[in-house]
Amino acid sequence: MAFRVFNGEVNNKATKIFGGEASGICDWDDIKYPHMLTLYKELFGNYWIEDEIRLISDLKQYRDGLTERERYVYNVVTGMLTSLDSVANRFNFTIGHTCTDPSVAAVIQIIGAFEGLHARSYQYLTSTMLNSEQKKQAFNAPKKIPLLRERNDIIFKKIQNFIDDPTNLEKLYHALLANLVLEGVFFTGAFVYFNSLARSNRMIGSNNMVNLIKTDENFHSVFYGDIMKILMLENPELNTELNHKEAVSFIKASVEKEKEWAEFIFEGIDTLSIPEYKDYVEYLANVICRNAGIQEVYPDNKELKSKWIITYGSKGGNTKSDFFQTNVISYGHESGDGFDL
Ligand SMILES: [Fe+2]
Ligand SMILES: [Fe+2]
Repeated sequence: MAFRVFNGEVNNKATKIFGGEASGICDWDDIKYPHMLTLYKELFGNYWIEDEIRLISDLKQYRDGLTERERYVYNVVTGMLTSLDSVANRFNFTIGHTCTDPSVAAVIQIIGAFEGLHARSYQYLTSTMLNSEQKKQAFNAPKKIPLLRERNDIIFKKIQNFIDDPTNLEKLYHALLANLVLEGVFFTGAFVYFNSLARSNRMIGSNNMVNLIKTDENFHSVFYGDIMKILMLENPELNTELNHKEAVSFIKASVEKEKEWAEFIFEGIDTLSIPEYKDYVEYLANVICRNAGIQEVYPDNKELKSKWIITYGSKGGNTKSDFFQTNVISYGHESGDGFDL
């Protein structure tokens, strides 16, 4: 049994977020982890849709301003992102379903919906720019390129094990680790590729959209790091030396796979240096470890050295956007300026 929709004999406040008991009534004033309400509101505040992004210049540049290789990489990484977010969308659905705490489940449901939006956003890029041959290249890449399959399989396997047995906390632990790698490391190469094109003043609309997605992913990564810490706290039987060691070696192995993949996919791409990218991936692996309370896997790599990734890889971070794009990218609900007329 995943959870009970209603249990009149127990408290509204859940005893544990997974495998616990709760009445099923979500009383936001009576939840075990009050910051879930803040997260929930923040997620709603970050709402956006892909149609806000203009791609007219990107369409022209995709055809005339990219090399053949750059177009190929654009297609493959967009297909790869679609595949990862499609999995994330379904994974969140299952994890939300097994969650005992209704407040945590509510946060996960929004995250799941956003993963669906992300997949649709990549579709917006491909449907706008790619012809049917190029689309085939994009959407078949996750199935056809052996190195990409191999890299993804190491996380998909852990996620599938959990989907097949969703009340098993040990499998949940491993699936959460896989999800941390998915969100915190495996998306990165594609994001950085778009950032690097923007650095050469190309595909600015695509980069703006990717940066909206990256902001969401950073948020998810922090949230799931937190969930991992709570899981360990509530279930001391998972908090073992062996599990900890396995986490470290799994994250390290994933990073090595990511480096191999980067060597393959970014060959012939002048805007991106592979050694620089590898260094960045190690740095990111440390970030997911810190978020999840796991010992850093690359203790010497504590600082982000490639500052341009921040310049071109943040919402509103580049100054090359045209008026509409700038307007779109700073679209948000957090500021009330101009509304009290
Ligand atoms: Fe996503
Ligand atoms: Fe995500």
